[in-house]
Amino acid sequence: MDMTKRPRRLRGNPALREMVRETRVDKSSLIYPLFVREGSGVVEEIPSLYGQLRYSPDTLCQGLEEVVKAGVPAVLLFGLPAEKDACGSGAWDENGVVQRALRQARAAFPELYLITDVCLCEYTSHGHCGILDGETVDNDKTLEVLSRTALSHVGAGADMVAPSDMMDGRVGAIRRALDGAGRSDVPILSYAVKYASAFYGPFREAADSAPAFGDRRGYQMDPHNRREAIKEAALDVEEGADLLMVKPALSYLDVIRDVSQAFPLPCAAYSVSGEYAMIKAAAAAGLIDEAAVACEAALSVYRAGADILITYYAKELAGWMDEGRIG
Ligand code: PBG
Repeated sequence: MDMTKRPRRLRGNPALREMVRETRVDKSSLIYPLFVREGSGVVEEIPSLYGQLRYSPDTLCQGLEEVVKAGVPAVLLFGLPAEKDACGSGAWDENGVVQRALRQARAAFPELYLITDVCLCEYTSHGHCGILDGETVDNDKTLEVLSRTALSHVGAGADMVAPSDMMDGRVGAIRRALDGAGRSDVPILSYAVKYASAFYGPFREAADSAPAFGDRRGYQMDPHNRREAIKEAALDVEEGADLLMVKPALSYLDVIRDVSQAFPLPCAAYSVSGEYAMIKAAAAAGLIDEAAVACEAALSVYRAGADILITYYAKELAGWMDEGRIG
């Protein structure tokens, strides 16, 4: 055979295969999402998200301990309040569920990086991500309560805030509120490119945040669109976002690629509840090798261009990285 170029030459030895890897992943890039609900002494399974637990503020540290032990450096907190109302006032309550959780977490784990999801859908009686005017979310009225929410999270100990509501102008509004309160040091991780996705199904059960009527297509992005992702991200960059997020991850790898190349900001991808649930369900049915598929899926997100991965598999991935399954 007259063949001088043989790609297989680089695949014949395990050390060499690792040496020539184009994508490197590291535990320092993982963020673990956690749900905190009102109550005390609660550690409960989340039926829609096998293997994920929901805590009350007083038990949250049990969950955080595992995160720290796994070597995952950061968590993203979601709150489920006892009471909901039309304007979601539990979201910025000094003694709200996330605020109390933050104080516990801050005191017990000073090194753990605490990020909060800033949104109203878990706190509103109608389940939409803002204040309603008739049946639509009033963008500008919502900005004020989102800013208040972000400020109260930071006051309670959050290191970073992550607005996920998709209102226009919310990054700028939150930036101004934080700066006005002397917290220009706090970064904003913007859910800049968030699609109206069916992959959020299990989350909405976990966070009790399904809209009571209609859907979120009036504010989240249409999955048909790709250029619009650049428009959304560019606006958030202008408004002062420090990090950009694309969400979901697996069905939006093209968008992760676009956003990570177009902007010199760290790019995060959120591998959402439905992505996790699909792997779990297929593994439970004996159809796939859970660890192998979860690693390969995570790898694809990094390969697409993500610097940071938010995933319900964060603790397991950290272990799989330690074992050298991916790295
Ligand atoms: C809140 C929010 C959602 C998710 C993160 N923040 C749900 C939604 O927009 O309906 C989804 C996360 C997941 O599915 O894992 N707005």
